[in-house]
Amino acid sequence: MAANRRESSPFGSSSSRDTDDEGVRGTCEDASVCKRYAVSIGYWHDPYIEHLVRPCKERKAPEINRGYFARVQGVSQLTKAFLRKTGCHCQILNLGAGMDTTFWKLKDEDLLPSKYFEVDFPTIVKRKLHNIKSKPALAKPIAELHSEDALRIDGHMLDSARYAIIGADLRELPELEEKLKKCNMSTQLPTLLIAECVLIYMTPEQSASLLKWAASSFETAMFINYEQVNMDDRFGQIMVENLWRRQCHLAGVETCKSLESQRERLLLNGWETASAVDMMELYSRLPRAEVNRIESLEFLDEMELLEQLMRHYCLCWATRGGQELGLKEITC
Ligand SMILES: C[S@@+](CC[C@H](N)C(=O)[O-])C[C@H]1O[C@@H](n2cnc3c(N)ncnc32)[C@H](O)[C@@H]1O
Repeated sequence: MAANRRESSPFGSSSSRDTDDEGVRGTCEDASVCKRYAVSIGYWHDPYIEHLVRPCKERKAPEINRGYFARVQGVSQLTKAFLRKTGCHCQILNLGAGMDTTFWKLKDEDLLPSKYFEVDFPTIVKRKLHNIKSKPALAKPIAELHSEDALRIDGHMLDSARYAIIGADLRELPELEEKLKKCNMSTQLPTLLIAECVLIYMTPEQSASLLKWAASSFETAMFINYEQVNMDDRFGQIMVENLWRRQCHLAGVETCKSLESQRERLLLNGWETASAVDMMELYSRLPRAEVNRIESLEFLDEMELLEQLMRHYCLCWATRGGQELGLKEITC
């Protein structure tokens, strides 16, 4: 199906999966550079991102920075709610983690799960590992939590007591599972899976398989998905075309039609509860004092730009089991 859509594209030529993947891998750079920029002007605190991501040369528009702020706040609120409900006796699988720094920030806040796993394409993992190995600010927190002398580490993976990073393709589930199990992923622990702007790069069939795998692998689990929504309109079409030009195919755009289609995908693939809010709604629910603080950082001329952007992204969360822990009550 992905190939068909590519053939009928206004930009003509079809290309191999690897070229498609190269464009998708490029999104890691986009997201992390935007996050580093927003951190550098005070949107949120992250002392680790500068060790993983190059600085951004150009100024980013205020609506983009506010969008990233809401995204990071939303995912963080749900993550912390899960950690509190489970008393941190749980594991987190960050799927398509890119240069994410959550592991280090949770350690600083004394909120680490029993084990934190990250997965991304091997080339992205290789880059992140290089930084982890060469920057003490990233290496020390991992080593501090590890009692033996030697961590298990090679070019595309690192496994330690509380943190593992694995190079794998999220569309190749048997291989993904095997690699996670080699790093002692438990199927018994309550598990939080996070996909922040990742599923849209897979076909609807591939993301459905990933969600189904996750729902059937863990008895007690929660899934957080942040990505595009309301993609049927002109704004959505322009986003698809712009990414096409950069060889990045939004293969899963069909599932990003509405909040309802997002919820439905979760419910049809083994999840018992599913909620979804667009980012404008989420932004309006964030603590007022914090919103006032970030809104004073930069002047935003046109509120409509922010609104338009925020209505095209959403935060979804789904749960399975965990009645006794109160997972179903989690909301943001
Ligand atoms: C937009 S970036 C987001 C990165 C990170 N989650 C964040 O929000 O900062 C998407 C990430 O998903 C990864 N990704 C997409 N499809 C993947 C796949 N099939 N297997 C592994 N990683 C994938 C990309 O390499 C990239 O790092």
